[in-house]
Amino acid sequence: MKKPWAGRFQERTAKIVETYTESISFDQRLWKYDIQGSIAHAKMLAKQGIIDPTEGKKIVRGLRKIYRSIEKGEFVFSKELEDIHMNIEAALIREIGETGAKLHTARSRNDQIALDLRMLLREETKNIITKLRDLISLIIDLCNRHIDVIMPGYTHTQRAQPVLLSHHLLCYANMFLRDSERFKDSLKRINVLPLGACALAGTSLPIDRKYVAKILGFSSLSINSMDSVSDRDFVVEFISNAAIFMMHISRLAEELILWSSTEFGFIEISDSFTTGSSIMPQKKNPDVAELMRGKTGRIYGNLVNILTMMKALPMTYNRDMQEDKIPLFDTLDTVKMTLETLIQMLPEITFNSAKMTSVSGQGFATATDIAEYLVGKGIAFRRAHEITGRIVHYCIKNKKDLCELSMEEFHQFAEVFDEEIFRRLSPESSVLGRLSEGGASPQQVRSQIEHFTRKLLRKKRAV
Ligand code: ARG
Repeated sequence: MKKPWAGRFQERTAKIVETYTESISFDQRLWKYDIQGSIAHAKMLAKQGIIDPTEGKKIVRGLRKIYRSIEKGEFVFSKELEDIHMNIEAALIREIGETGAKLHTARSRNDQIALDLRMLLREETKNIITKLRDLISLIIDLCNRHIDVIMPGYTHTQRAQPVLLSHHLLCYANMFLRDSERFKDSLKRINVLPLGACALAGTSLPIDRKYVAKILGFSSLSINSMDSVSDRDFVVEFISNAAIFMMHISRLAEELILWSSTEFGFIEISDSFTTGSSIMPQKKNPDVAELMRGKTGRIYGNLVNILTMMKALPMTYNRDMQEDKIPLFDTLDTVKMTLETLIQMLPEITFNSAKMTSVSGQGFATATDIAEYLVGKGIAFRRAHEITGRIVHYCIKNKKDLCELSMEEFHQFAEVFDEEIFRRLSPESSVLGRLSEGGASPQQVRSQIEHFTRKLLRKKRAV
């Protein structure tokens, strides 16, 4: 097959070079955007009188036919034609003859690939934001359904203070909300039209970039033709946002794994979202959550991949950049699959509320409440901390729990203790008392839930 650059060349491209340099095997997924971009470009060329209006129409018709044949899976992609742009252009010339050769006027594959990627990421980023919102609503549902469940709150994976399960789950709603805001913010940097930069320097032909931007729904034009073809910040940013999202996913996955262990026994994941062991009949493994945790590594790898590929590239387009699609597509597929799987898995989790509540007071979890009680009696916090520390030490030595101590025992440590202390030692009262903004009390947790519900409603209206 004749290459578009054949004029300058005397010899055929070596077979191994074709194999080594092709990208059609992976960039064919850009076909839809490539054709939409070409249709807009052809319309602009005709409007500007760069090509004949009848030629413009013929090109558009030809491109639509190719669109349908790819859609139906009838189109045969060829490695000899290297990439999606050349495959479609060659098909157009086959379809409508020499007029097809006019499409590539005032355009280069360099601005074309930047356009395709931006169109893909614009659409996919919006899809991801919608899915993140679905995920947040599911978490809010869980919070509402388990509003009164108390569990141990942890620091250093050691029991720290009692909290509400919904308070804990809302951490993830916050993470995913920040993720969705991050993706949303990136849209304004994605939604910039690079087309018209041509190879790197623009063109002497009288193109109308604003017109193309309007047809394709871009909110602005890139302002430097050289930057337009050399910039992949928006790809790096997408993978970076995805890496942060997957970091959040890995933390949630880790907790689901821990919580479903016999040691914790906080949750049970249904049979349909767990797998068995081929040797140990009793096992029920949280493989889905483990793979979510595991796939996070791939996304970090993809981020390092694209950053390293882009590092120190001189202006402007360099062929290295063809490699951007591998980490990008893998990230996209992994994020989408992970989101969808998690959305389906969350309702399959049963929370063992009784177990969570029963252990929430263990491990001297209300010791801080004793210290705060003493502060209320006028004792300096450092002193109160020390007194409470001695009480805990006494309990450990005498194998007692805080709630098993008598008034006499409390008085050995401080005179100021009165009957009120007994009401302060239960996990329930510990949680109830934490009324500070964002704190553990049911009242504060409810207002957090309301905050999310309002946000979700607002977003729904905005769409
Ligand atoms: N397949 C190429 C890529 O993905 C398209 C741009 C090629 N440009 C070039 N001058 N070889 O980056």
